[in-house]
Amino acid sequence: MLQHFTDALERLDRAALRFEERYVEPVFQRIVRFAEKSSAERSRAIRQRIQHISAWLYYRLRWFINRSWSPYVKIYKPQNAWAFDNFRELEEYRQFWIAGGEANNLFDMARLYALVYNIRQLLKDNIPGHFAELGVYQGHSAKLLSTMKGDRRLYLFDTFDGFRPDDLVGVDAKQNMGFKNTSLGRVRNFVGAERVIYVPGWFPQSVTAEASEATYALVHIDCDLHAPAKAALEFFYPRVSAGGYIILHDYGSGYWPGIEKAVQEFFSDKSERPIIWPDAAGTGVIRKAARQDVHSTVARQQKK
Ligand SMILES: C[S@@+](CC[C@H](N)C(=O)[O-])C[C@H]1O[C@@H](n2cnc3c(N)ncnc32)[C@H](O)[C@@H]1O
Repeated sequence: MLQHFTDALERLDRAALRFEERYVEPVFQRIVRFAEKSSAERSRAIRQRIQHISAWLYYRLRWFINRSWSPYVKIYKPQNAWAFDNFRELEEYRQFWIAGGEANNLFDMARLYALVYNIRQLLKDNIPGHFAELGVYQGHSAKLLSTMKGDRRLYLFDTFDGFRPDDLVGVDAKQNMGFKNTSLGRVRNFVGAERVIYVPGWFPQSVTAEASEATYALVHIDCDLHAPAKAALEFFYPRVSAGGYIILHDYGSGYWPGIEKAVQEFFSDKSERPIIWPDAAGTGVIRKAARQDVHSTVARQQKK
């Protein structure tokens, strides 16, 4: 009897030990690591956690939020789509924009709509040239560009392996490594290959002769960091057609200060200025001044 009682106590003791090792200790270690952070890092970690929980909640509640009777629908769907039903493709775009439930795109329907409406405007204006994107990650914005590009080509520049350690310098020194959970194969499967030219590698070293000779109607710069954003402005600006768009994600986010810095530096001697979208990251858009000859601009840049 006493033996049974001692065995039971031992089993209980071992279970308590396992519970402590598995659940209590990791939590304790996380609390210690959290306490060791600076107060700025702590508040950033809390904000990120809240963002992830909100993204998860939004994803779970999306069927409720996007019902036609829901008050949110006005915010999340432009009027001509939900009220006048004259833009059916938008629903298709919405579906792949939120595919996979990634937090950045799931939150940001305003960004999707702004991209869609501006690309439509560019097409209506018959701005000549191809589309390009620097910063593809898992391909959500690339998929939109690819779907809307028509007969044009889409050039996609990325490492397809996230940031590299030596990218995090200068104004970006305090950022974290990111965007590793992707690959060229994964993006190709999602975005497709029809008139899509994948340019893997570190930009601007990755630039090909074909990409250098092309003219662009739309360039989407979404690389987060100052150096590649500045290099992209230097490379693409002279190759963008008159009336073409240069779209800079994160311009006004405050989280990636290198983008605003790159724009301020590059456009200091030019007439265009960014117009800011009311999306989550304050995307900045520059529409290249009309009545400019692309080739003479390239020639001028090359003379410098
Ligand atoms: C924010 S993600 C792009 C998100 C994507 N446009 C979307 O909306 O779904 C940033 C991407 O920029 C890429 N990137 C940053 N610096 C780069 C560089 N110098 N060369 C190539 N890719 C770079 C990263 O690999 C990462 O995939």
